[in-house]
Amino acid sequence: MKEQLEAIKAQALKELEAASSAAELEQLRVNYLGKKSPLTAALKNMGSLTPEERPIVGQMANSIKAEIAEALDAAKEKIGQLELANKLEKEKIDVTLPSKKCACGKLHPLTKIQREMEEIFLGMGFSIAEGPEVETEYYNFTALNTPEFHPARDVQDTFYITDKVLLRSQTSTTQVHAMEENKPPIRVISPGRVYRSDAVDATHSPMFHQCEGLVIDKGITMSDLKGTLLLFAKQMFGEKTEIRFRPHHFPFTEPSCEVDVSCFVCGGKGCSVCKGEGWIEILGAGMVHPNVLRMSGIDPEEYSGFAFGMGIERIVMTKFGISDMRLLYENDVRFLSQF
Ligand code: PHE
Repeated sequence: MKEQLEAIKAQALKELEAASSAAELEQLRVNYLGKKSPLTAALKNMGSLTPEERPIVGQMANSIKAEIAEALDAAKEKIGQLELANKLEKEKIDVTLPSKKCACGKLHPLTKIQREMEEIFLGMGFSIAEGPEVETEYYNFTALNTPEFHPARDVQDTFYITDKVLLRSQTSTTQVHAMEENKPPIRVISPGRVYRSDAVDATHSPMFHQCEGLVIDKGITMSDLKGTLLLFAKQMFGEKTEIRFRPHHFPFTEPSCEVDVSCFVCGGKGCSVCKGEGWIEILGAGMVHPNVLRMSGIDPEEYSGFAFGMGIERIVMTKFGISDMRLLYENDVRFLSQF
């Protein structure tokens, strides 16, 4: 019986050695360790042994079983590695091959400049406040000290939805909301869309973007306005940029001014970008009119403030040398992907 067991073991080990796939191994496991294995069959004949022989043979059978199981594990491990190596060899990829180009989206130039503006003012401690594009006449005109018969109120300039409701024609509406909703000190900018009844051409569009700024606190003066705008201009157009204030009129500021930046292309000598002027007009500004403060519940004896508003398209067009505003709205990817 011992010889029989030894022979089974030798045969099993030999076959295991020769096996070359996981499937073959599985078959061998069933053959040698399963219920119908020769080992099990041999053990069934234990009855024919003497009581002294039985434990010895039993032990031997068990240890052979263990040895076969161990050899099976080792073979599995070896074959596993071989199969993995084969697979890796077969599925090898050439990482040096050129890959498929993946088209990467870009920010629209208007978004890009708007975000740049936001970054600059956030850095100066401003926060961002947005307001509705559909407004009442009160926020767009009345609360901004615009007289009832002011030409800007005319239907030729402003889109009316009803007698009292309109599409805002300026982001200055957000000044009023900011003052109604907050107590001074107030320091906000408000970028967004505005609408005017203009025909489309290279420099006009019935919809465009502005960015409003408002600061209200005790003791705010025109020099705070100048300092803030100079810092903005230098960050937006370059360190060498200078600014120039020209007297102007807005109903909601007094005094009011228009602000130019020195041409960032020629530095002020005059070129095609600044049309020979050396200066580029970028915004309107002024000290918030006492009537405007009062109407929004702020005491002009205690507080003062400045406001400014700039057209984002205008800045985008001068910065990127775009001569036709329509290009910004046609959304031709060939155009947009240049920025
Ligand atoms: N709202 C003005 C415009 O649309 C710009 C402006 C804003 C002027 C704030 C002064 C103060 O032209």
